[in-house]
Amino acid sequence: MKHETQISILKALMQQLDEGKNIDAGVQYRMPTNGYVCPEIAAKEHQLFFQNHAQLLGLSQDLPRSGSYVTNDDFGTPILATRDKNGTFRAFLNACRHRGVRVAQEDRGRKTLFTCPFHHWGYSSGGDLINVPDQAHFGAIDKACKGLIELPAVERDGILWVHPQPDGVLDIDKLLGKTLADELASYNLASLLYAGTKTITKDLNWKLANDTFGETYHFGKLHKDTLGRLNYGNNLHLEEFGPHHRFVTASKAIDKLRTQPEADWDIGVGAGFVLYYLFPNIQLIVNPGTCTLVKIYPDPERPGRSTSQIVVYFSQVAMDALVEETPATITPDMVYGTNEERRPSLAATMEVFNSTIEQEDYLMGEYQQKSAENGLLREIMFGRNEPALHHFHSTFRNRLGLSPLEKIEA
Ligand code: FES
Ligand SMILES: [Fe+2]
Repeated sequence: MKHETQISILKALMQQLDEGKNIDAGVQYRMPTNGYVCPEIAAKEHQLFFQNHAQLLGLSQDLPRSGSYVTNDDFGTPILATRDKNGTFRAFLNACRHRGVRVAQEDRGRKTLFTCPFHHWGYSSGGDLINVPDQAHFGAIDKACKGLIELPAVERDGILWVHPQPDGVLDIDKLLGKTLADELASYNLASLLYAGTKTITKDLNWKLANDTFGETYHFGKLHKDTLGRLNYGNNLHLEEFGPHHRFVTASKAIDKLRTQPEADWDIGVGAGFVLYYLFPNIQLIVNPGTCTLVKIYPDPERPGRSTSQIVVYFSQVAMDALVEETPATITPDMVYGTNEERRPSLAATMEVFNSTIEQEDYLMGEYQQKSAENGLLREIMFGRNEPALHHFHSTFRNRLGLSPLEKIEA
């Protein structure tokens, strides 16, 4: 992020803290709860946003070398993504051309030959069919035409994008817009190393999971013993980039900057985190030396269920600084304490997602889901201090052809 942008965001946050005011959209909205429960809406979302929309698969270092691969089933198309022998990112339908069995079963690894477990047809990391056992018995096959079905795949500034349809269009410039694309490029995401994944499947609509990343009003309340120990809450800088946005909130360490010259200000110190929401389902959180991708997927059969894949990446320096042994017990101070108390272990990092997201945010989402399913609570409200939620839901509803959010007149 440009330094001048960092300064202007930090100043806006300091001003909110000084004046005791949160961000103010100047308007409240009401929204019908059926968007969280309606099977027809869920089916349309899955079609539009997940089956026919670019998907962010991961970061470059998910595929660190030629022969590296990852598999993915999260958005309804079984994907085998590889780095081929030339180092190029490729994506394929993870389905053997003989009778459709998955050719790669594990989440990630490294292979030069993908052997289908059923009859052992073998494919290269570039998707070519190179082995057909007992071919004299099977009969003639034009191997050149029976490689894995390839999907559009683009690696751009450290991000791996794939389109779930073979004839889909992946236009990343159009998808992100230049300003946001340039800002994401400034983080050198290509250098971050994969550290670990936490999967959370719970009974809440995928948009409710997204919603928990949409305001800081709850930080000092729901998260008072977790994330609220590190961040002030009730302050927010939000900037929209078309359907996407940047969401920045103040860390308590922002006060250290007040006595420093602006030229030395660093948003990595003053912000609790810098979060990019990438339409429709990605929360990309950047902190010094680390990045967390939260990828949120609906269950197309059950509007009230979703899965979040939380994937953590570290810089080499941050990885080297991790304590090697896994502590037997993770205490809140190791995770949310001051710098002296915190221990940079992977287990402590993952614990944030357990204690703050799974046990706090998503628990709220499960309660919200139940009340929406009951049908008696027909609508909910978004306050003047929750503009990211206005943005999410206005965008979703607009793309689904639903009525816009309704202003609440005072
Ligand atoms: S289904 Fe893959 S080899 Fe037969
Ligand atoms: Fe939260």
